[in-house]
Amino acid sequence: MPRLIAISNRVQTETEGETANRGGLAVALAAGLRASNGIWFGWSGEQTEEFTGQITFRRANGVATATIDLEAQDIEEYYNGFANRTLWPLFHYRLDLTEIARDFAGGYARVNHRFAETVGPLIEPDDLVWVHDYHLLPLGQQLRERGFRNRIGFFLHIPWPPPSLLISLPDHRELVESLLDYDVVGFQSEEWRQAFMDYVTAHLDADIDGEIVSFGNRRTRMLVCPIGLDTADFCSAAHSMAAKQSQTQLMVSAVGRDMIVGVDRLDYSKGLQERFIAYQQFLTNHPELCEKVSLLQIAPPSRGDVPSYQQIRAELNALSGSINGEFATIDWVPIRYVNHGYSREKLFGIYRAARVGLVTPLRDGMNLVAKEYVAAQDPADPGVLVLSRFAGAAAQLEGAVIVNPHSSEDMADGIARALAMPLAERQERHKAMFDCIVKQDVHWWSKTFMEALEKAGPKPAARL
Ligand code: G6P
Repeated sequence: MPRLIAISNRVQTETEGETANRGGLAVALAAGLRASNGIWFGWSGEQTEEFTGQITFRRANGVATATIDLEAQDIEEYYNGFANRTLWPLFHYRLDLTEIARDFAGGYARVNHRFAETVGPLIEPDDLVWVHDYHLLPLGQQLRERGFRNRIGFFLHIPWPPPSLLISLPDHRELVESLLDYDVVGFQSEEWRQAFMDYVTAHLDADIDGEIVSFGNRRTRMLVCPIGLDTADFCSAAHSMAAKQSQTQLMVSAVGRDMIVGVDRLDYSKGLQERFIAYQQFLTNHPELCEKVSLLQIAPPSRGDVPSYQQIRAELNALSGSINGEFATIDWVPIRYVNHGYSREKLFGIYRAARVGLVTPLRDGMNLVAKEYVAAQDPADPGVLVLSRFAGAAAQLEGAVIVNPHSSEDMADGIARALAMPLAERQERHKAMFDCIVKQDVHWWSKTFMEALEKAGPKPAARL
């Protein structure tokens, strides 16, 4: 098995205090790295006075990591800037929040260049190189320009926007062309791959033959490969003390009420305001259920230096406060809104105690919380997943109650339907979803991607 060099913006290993804030990437990558004795390269998350390119090597839980520190200007222009003020909103269809600035684009190019310069010496000729996510779209091209002929793959964890949105990026063509320097590009769902192909068809002089895009002397396979959970490992939390305790704690505090749970990074793409408003609508439509249900929303803050994240945080504070003010009674609070994350074990117990899992992003590449909620249910008496049609997960989890997060009425109906669902229907829906997350788990995901990458032929050193 060739060695895997995984490269992503953040490098995080699984630790005791693992929280919902980490995103799904860490768990997903660790499995493949351990198996191949690979290295995970990326930003340490730390700031240094001046960029030196010095690499810190560590090993944690069987995963070797190599990290670099970035300087303040890099973090501002690359991470807070181009990645999270330009690409993230644009790729989540939020043109209204997309900020176009030359400084951001310059910082993004500079940091991708710095990544290539520092990771380059770690790469040996037979290594498979696997680059992750929107922070590092042009890294493959940077490596090719330095003569690397390795098989290099890229996986996009977030959506790919339709061409009509992408062209608002001044250098959209260069960005797309840079992806064609990879051997394999992976997408979470057919919808995102199709959007990419639509751009290629409309804007590039490239040939498309099924999954293969040929551009100059390059051939790139466009693969749909939805990321999964480490399902078996996640389910093993069922036997942990922490899971049992948090389940019991929640059930005691619910005093017989049905719990609805949401777990999301505090991000505008997650549709949290729309979710709170839908819950308000549900309470209005069903006065008989007031005091009989309770929504627990866990939302650890993220990207706090980005203005749109500061704004959404303030808006959610106000909204949860006003809904609670309107509906609460002396012994019932309709929304429990918590701004910190929980360990995987505790989350497992929380999911299991909840009758309904509410996962309603406006746009999401995949959404692993939806899969975690399913994994944590007791098959004999499972809760119901209410899932946005705009999450990549909706293409796989057909047993969910699928809702439109832009319609508070549709979501309110979805919540009511989930709460009233008979046991036999809950079991049937859960089984279909559970089978899927067992079959297409994270091991399947990394194996599928790596096999596709291994099959790619050797590359010409430079594009003609
Ligand atoms: C999403 C992205 C990941 C990212 C995670 C957490 O899941 O696809 O690449 O790591 O969010 O975001 P952060 O900005 O805190 O790394």
